[in-house]
Amino acid sequence: MKVDFEKVNGIIEKYRDDREAIIALLQDISAEIRYLPEEVIRHVSDEIEVPVSRLYSLATFYTSFRLEPRGEHEVQICMGTACHVRGAPRMLENVTQKLNIKPGETTGDGKFTVETVNCVGACALGPLLVLDGKYYGKLTQRKIEKLLGGSDDEVEQSC
Ligand code: FES
Repeated sequence: MKVDFEKVNGIIEKYRDDREAIIALLQDISAEIRYLPEEVIRHVSDEIEVPVSRLYSLATFYTSFRLEPRGEHEVQICMGTACHVRGAPRMLENVTQKLNIKPGETTGDGKFTVETVNCVGACALGPLLVLDGKYYGKLTQRKIEKLLGGSDDEVEQSC
């Protein structure tokens, strides 16, 4: 994925005079390009004169920062106990087979990142998939096909 350094520089300028705003700066960059690649961390380090090691320690301390590319859409499969007993492992298999990736990976076209999570607090709806923050419960293979095939408007959202 090619980084748009013009956008990155615009964000750096926004925080240039605020030495206390390193986290906000990293958050804005992360929101813009969906992760913090090494080349960007090094560029920011040069621009704001903060050591690369300091930026990496912040980027790895806060779980909201990602050092690997993220997909345009984030898919989370709940593997908590209630979802697990209602078939979450099979649903995860369906999703990973459909997208041809393993949990934690991003599709080659950059469209989807798949992760597993442990209980998102909607146990009665299991098995559950979260797509870009929206919950889809009582998951079936058919729902997965519709959701990941790009027609989520036909799939009832559960929460
Ligand atoms: S176990 Fe899946 S939402 Fe609680």
